[in-house]
Amino acid sequence: LTTAATALALTVTAGAAIAACDDGEIVVKFAHVTNTDKHPKGIAASLLAERVNAEMNGTMCMEVYPNSTLYNDDKVLEAMLQGDVQLAAPSLSKFEKFTKKFRLFDLPFMFKNVDAVDAFQTSDAGQALLDSMQKRGLQGLAYWHNGMKQMSASKPLLVPSDANGLKFRVQSSDVLVAQMEAMGASPQKMAFSEVYGALQQGVVDGQENTWSNIYGQKFFEVQDGTTETNHGIIDYLVVTSVDWLDSLDAGVRDQFLTILTEVTNARNAESTKVNNEARDAILAAGGVVRQLTAEQRQEWVDTMKPVWDKFVDDVGQESIDAAQAINA
Ligand code: LMR
Repeated sequence: LTTAATALALTVTAGAAIAACDDGEIVVKFAHVTNTDKHPKGIAASLLAERVNAEMNGTMCMEVYPNSTLYNDDKVLEAMLQGDVQLAAPSLSKFEKFTKKFRLFDLPFMFKNVDAVDAFQTSDAGQALLDSMQKRGLQGLAYWHNGMKQMSASKPLLVPSDANGLKFRVQSSDVLVAQMEAMGASPQKMAFSEVYGALQQGVVDGQENTWSNIYGQKFFEVQDGTTETNHGIIDYLVVTSVDWLDSLDAGVRDQFLTILTEVTNARNAESTKVNNEARDAILAAGGVVRQLTAEQRQEWVDTMKPVWDKFVDDVGQESIDAAQAINA
């Protein structure tokens, strides 16, 4: 294959909007791990690229690489520090090597819904966290919403003890490891792109994720069912390197950040809708969704919430207090 043919093949297989960048344009590679059209992050990334490429044509050119086609989340932040990719939006669970402050977002039952998450993120305490990795060379630019997490497994899960002895895939977060251990399950950290195969082959028995991920990755097809636990959240940090951001002229940087803010506000307002549509699509495809009674849900709370104690020093009591004041 010629280089051009390889590039075309890549574009076609990834289903990606790989823009043809012109000489002299600042090329912004944005790598992420989800699909492009049925997912809060994928839709937001595509919209961001569309707007940058239309409104900053001749100055900046954004190429989006979805579906882990360029990097998975374990590699993307190192690649960013090397200058090989300029933008990513890993979940807040995936920054442990750089800061422990985001562990707040993984603590089970910290936020009752995405509105509470949004209110915390837009508060002074939430905005301060965007700068928490500057010394490590990374700059948070915006929070993007996904939604509340649900729990699926190879058998029905109605109370936490149903997970006893099961192997669960978790994102690369020690909080999530502790949460699964609290349920008597065996957690296993694993890249997102490997989860479907691992569930299908029984390498793991279950996982937790949002409706859009459970639908987008077809996890529901290889699970007994999904229990509507809403026990935690998956949200994203749109992140870049301090060096890259500093390299932009002020006018270019401002225009880019203004577009990013507008896309963030527009798409964050739609994230719950996208997840509800994914839940409906799972049901329409014959997937099983289980509800909890109030008593059952209380068992999940009682089992998982003690996990907070282990991580107070990492996240700071003041962050927990700020989040809980908002969540009240
Ligand atoms: C996961 O690894 O399950 C999620 O972080 C994937 C994503 O980007 O939503």
